[in-house]
Amino acid sequence: MPLVPYDQASAWQRTTEWWQQAGLGAFEGGGVPNLITNSRAAGRAAAALLATRAPADGPVVVWEAGSGNGRWADQVFAALEQDAGDRGKALAKRLTIVITELSEGTIRETVGQPRIARRIAAGQLDIAVWDITSGQLPHLVSDGSDAPTPVAVFATYVACCIPPKQIRHTSAGWFQLHTLEDEAGEPGRGFLGTAQWEDADLDTLFDDGRHALVVKRTLERLNSGTLVYPWRFAAFMDHLRGYAPEAMLVVNDVGACDEHLMLSSKDRMPQHYEGSMAHSVDFPWFDEWAQVFGGSVLRTGNPLRQVQTAVVLPEHHPDANISAAFTRYVASDTSLDDLADFTEAAYAALQGREIRTATRFYERCHQLDPDNTEFVLNIGQLCMAQGHMDRAIVWMQRGKARDAHGEVDWDAHIAEVKRRQL
Ligand SMILES: C[S@@+](CC[C@H](N)C(=O)[O-])C[C@H]1O[C@@H](n2cnc3c(N)ncnc32)[C@H](O)[C@@H]1O
Repeated sequence: MPLVPYDQASAWQRTTEWWQQAGLGAFEGGGVPNLITNSRAAGRAAAALLATRAPADGPVVVWEAGSGNGRWADQVFAALEQDAGDRGKALAKRLTIVITELSEGTIRETVGQPRIARRIAAGQLDIAVWDITSGQLPHLVSDGSDAPTPVAVFATYVACCIPPKQIRHTSAGWFQLHTLEDEAGEPGRGFLGTAQWEDADLDTLFDDGRHALVVKRTLERLNSGTLVYPWRFAAFMDHLRGYAPEAMLVVNDVGACDEHLMLSSKDRMPQHYEGSMAHSVDFPWFDEWAQVFGGSVLRTGNPLRQVQTAVVLPEHHPDANISAAFTRYVASDTSLDDLADFTEAAYAALQGREIRTATRFYERCHQLDPDNTEFVLNIGQLCMAQGHMDRAIVWMQRGKARDAHGEVDWDAHIAEVKRRQL
């Protein structure tokens, strides 16, 4: 079997095929994590960043790359319409979000969800099938035209999915990870078991020599380190500048804001989520990318965060508005971690039969993600279990009022509370 560079291994092709066939099923039942990134809290942060880039009047277009189940775009609208005052409501009226996906099957199923269908019918959402590594513009499914120029592009948990090169720098020189090609294997399983580091010539590693410079600058200051570099994502960032020179790119991903993953002496294994593979993102390379390709970057700096963010800007100096919004609504904001932690804490409390504690944690989850019907239903049922029947009914009615898409049979739950109340 031949040795191939890590990013060319057929396991990545199988991952792409898996995304193509998995559809929305990938995001259900916790297969591919998406609770916090598709929450209202995530929508609020995005809305705050967007507000600093939107022109004073006229249409505002945003693209979302790799939109998955499409919930994020719905949350951005909900945040603008319900949590951001009159200015938010006014911006929502001018906004179109083009949700785009690699997977045609996923986007087809996404469109079928009531909350997405409603926004498409209202002209708030548009749809495109788009491989961000293709070097092409997204074409709208509605009429085949190019998507209109965006003021902002958001990519959440997408950089981690793009096949990276793994490059190592030591006192002995530069090396690239190769793997033994294995056509028949499971997607990605045992992938690095056959890995081999081969000498690398940075000058010929990439078609575009600027990527070599990014790699060099990121790794050279470390005595020894390994960079996972999703260079096709980095190339996409450059292509985007060609279509939309003024656009802000917001990258949210799992990864490290500092160098600790690059310094680790362990091999950089991919994570497997069902049939997909992903790599933690080494965010320091974004700083070097901006130095080499131009522009500037705002980044989160707390290594303990579940989601790190890089806001990539075409201007060399971010203005005070975007810097302040980033600090307040992203870097200093703990909402996404709170949502993850409260959900876990609620579950642990339930396991320990601490029903009151579990209820309080679900109430906090609800504040961070009010359209999540599961939280409301859990709170209602836990109130009922504790004998707080009036409170249970209030929660069930709240769920019913908010559940415009009939995800839960609230009347049946309300009837159950009333029956037990007798
Ligand atoms: C981990 S999921 C994230 C989905 C969503 N952004 C979220 O936060 O829930 C990664 C998504 O990226 C899409 N994807 C993978 N490779 C892509 C590519 N080359 N171009 C566009 N989308 C891609 C997958 O189909 C999948 O929906």
